[in-house]
Parts: sequence; structure tokens; C-alpha cells
Amino acid sequence: MTLDVVKYAINRITKTNPELGKPKTEAELRMLVGETVTDNGIGGEKAFELFRDVLAKATVPIDHPRHLAFVPAAPTRAAILFDLVTSASSIHGAYWMEGAGGIFCENEAMQWLVSLTGMPKPAFGVFTSGGTAANLSALVAARVKWRKEPANENIKGLMITSVGAHSSIKAMAKVMDVDVLLVETENAMTCTALQVLINGLDAIQRARVFAVVATGGTTNAGIIDDLSGVADVCEKEQLWFHVDAAYGGGALAATSVRHLFNGIERADSVTIDPHKWLFSPYDCGAVLYKNPEEAKEAHSQEGSYLEIFKDEGAHGFNPSDYQIQLTRRLRGLPLWYSLATHGTEKYAWAVEEGIKLANTAGKLISAHPLLELVREPSLSCVLYRRKGWTPDDYRNWTYKNHEAGFALVTPTKWKTTDGYETVSRFCFINPDTTEQDIVAILKSME
Ligand SMILES: Cc1ncc(COP(=O)(O)O)c(C=O)c1O
Repeated sequence: MTLDVVKYAINRITKTNPELGKPKTEAELRMLVGETVTDNGIGGEKAFELFRDVLAKATVPIDHPRHLAFVPAAPTRAAILFDLVTSASSIHGAYWMEGAGGIFCENEAMQWLVSLTGMPKPAFGVFTSGGTAANLSALVAARVKWRKEPANENIKGLMITSVGAHSSIKAMAKVMDVDVLLVETENAMTCTALQVLINGLDAIQRARVFAVVATGGTTNAGIIDDLSGVADVCEKEQLWFHVDAAYGGGALAATSVRHLFNGIERADSVTIDPHKWLFSPYDCGAVLYKNPEEAKEAHSQEGSYLEIFKDEGAHGFNPSDYQIQLTRRLRGLPLWYSLATHGTEKYAWAVEEGIKLANTAGKLISAHPLLELVREPSLSCVLYRRKGWTPDDYRNWTYKNHEAGFALVTPTKWKTTDGYETVSRFCFINPDTTEQDIVAILKSME
């Protein structure tokens, strides 16, 4: 059984062009596998066979080189292997007392992330389950700080972001029961637009604002807000400045685009997802704080059973003090091992490959008589239209390519002067994607 599982894992890790699986309905899957959880068990061999031969084939491998939808991923082999080691090691990653050696490794990787942002000492952070949890952790810390002012104790908070911000910002605002105001642009949020919105608030609304969320690489189009300008406004208005670089943060490692993020070093908090553009397996996000003590005030949990962890004898960095989760997997370990294996230069190279692929796609689209760029490629995102296509055409084309096991490229919408236009979108992460892959996908639109 162990050999079967390890053999499967090795085969899957070494396959750079895995089958592009397709979903089946629950009824179809039920018919194929029958009951799997029974009184006496169906046996490991049978269960594994069902997973390998039926269920895994009804999933889409996100590291397929022609999976260019949403934000794909491309975890390194080293990182995946170490994900296995992380599971096998059974380490509790909440407190130094239990997880010291593992937390040490996570912190090595975290130090690199902090250095990419240029945030000054004592900036530091922790790994989270993803960008959503990182954004929530940061914004909760922001509100706790704001609520320290007695006048703010009982009023509902308000945060400002832009139309281009990720859906998780609005979703987490609901979790926190705060309101959101949007700067009405899907292009870069500028300091002027932000200031105009703030100036337009009445005194009661203005008093409710506690944070501004800028985006360091929008999910839809890879657009980076004017981070320096937003930092200036936040400084002047005394607002918490959060940068959601969940997707784009990997590009901090790429010298060709690093200047676009200038100003990120002034943020109070930053989200970067290693499971997006830093080649880590799911799930691994990260939240970084300018002043980690502020996060600790918000997140450190109290309980008689937890007191020993705070004791001098158990002293060390406790990841649970800086984000919303208590018991946690050491999810930064795969990133650490992969970084230690390959070195940071290799990471810079791999991220630059994604940017190059986007630029290559941009050139191929511009040269194609039936295709047109909606906007210049930004980071590793490309929005383009197939002249004459309706939203149905884009949808049918997506299904056809997926059905054929050829590619997964999904449509999105882009705001125009009179509404929203359905367009096609590439997001490149995987350095194994080739120019031939792009040519073949574009050809399928002819
Ligand atoms: C900019 C941005 N923020 C946040 C998220 C949410 O991250 P997660 O899905 O890891 O929770 C995403 C996901 O695509 C994103 O692109």
C-alpha cells in the first residue's frame, strides 16, 4: 500500500503534462465508485484504486501547462515532496514550544518574503491558509488598532478599496461586519481618485474609515495600484494601508517589474500567496505586518490551557499570535525546502518566465488578424478579444477545449464605457508553458 501511494506520488510529480481532467456529476461519480465509507471499510487498496483511476481523473491539475485560467499554480517538485514530509512529520505549527524547528524553517522563508517587499524592521509575518485568510487577518488587526480609540469603540468600520480588488476583500468585510467603499476603477487606483473619494465623505462616514486596501496585481488583469500614492494618502489621513499582493506578490522577485511595486515597503500589512506565483502547493498564503505587535494584540488567543505556551520556558515565535487560526499545519515548510534547494535566483528566473510568456502572448495576439489585445499585458495576465465573438462563443470555446483535454482558458469581463465586455484571459504561472502552447490555443479560436 505504502509503495503504491509513493509510486503514484512520484509519477504525478514527475509528469509535467498531466491529463487535463474534467468534472463529472456527483451522480456519475457515485455510479462509478459506489459507497466508499462503509461499516467495515472497503480497504486501502480499493479506495486508492478508486481515487487513482476514477476520482483523480475528474479533477483539473492546476499545474497543467495549458491551464491558464483563474490563477493557476506550478508547485516545484521539491516543494511537493516536502509537503509529503510535512504531513509525515506531524508537527503542530501554532507554538514555538511544539514546532520550533519547523517554525524556524518557515521563518527563513518569511524573511525572504519580507526582504522582497523592502518593509523595514521589525516587519515580519506568518503563513496562512491563503489570501483570503491573510486579508482577513490583516484587516482584523487594522480594526483592532482603530478601535483602541475610545470614540471608535461602538461604530461600524468602513474600508476603502477599488473595483479591481479581489472578491475576498468584500467577502471578508462581510465576515467582519464592516462596510466597503469602492474607488470606481478597474484600472490602477490612484492617489487622486482615493483622495477625492475621502474628501467627498461626510464627517460621520469619514470617522468610520479605518483602512485602505490597494492591490498589487489585480486578479483579473494584473494591474498594480499606485502604491506610493496610496501610501501618501494613508499617511496623511492616518489610515491603515493594506496591500493585497496575493497573486502579484511573486513578481516582487522579478527585477523587470519590481519598480511597479514601489511604495509597498510603506504598507502596514501585505498579503502574498506562495501558492499562487511562488511555486508552493496548496495551501499557502502569507500575511506580513509592518509592526507584528499590532497583529499580536488582535490575534493572540487566551486560555488557561494555552498559558504554558507564553511562558518564558517555551519562549519563541508563535505563528498563531499573528493570524486567525490556532492549530495550523506548517504550511510554509514546502516553500522553505524549495527555496533552500533551488536558491532565490531560480525563483526570480521562474517568475520572469511567466512575465515573458504574457509578453509573448501579447505579441502573438497583436499579430493575429482575428484577435486584439484589450489592454497591454500586465504582470502575467493578458486580456484579449476574438473579433466578432459573443459571450456564448467564448463559453463554448472554453468547454470545447476543456472537453478535448487540450486546454483550460476561461472568459472574464472587462469594464468598458457602456458596460462590461466578455473577453478571454490568460494568466501565466507555469514556466513549463511554451510559446507553442500559446500558438495552439490561439489557433483554436480561428
Ligand atoms: C489578489 C487576490 N487576493 C486574494 C485572493 C484570495 O486568495 P485565496 O484564494 O488563496 O484565499 C486571490 C485569489 O485569486 C487574489 O488573486
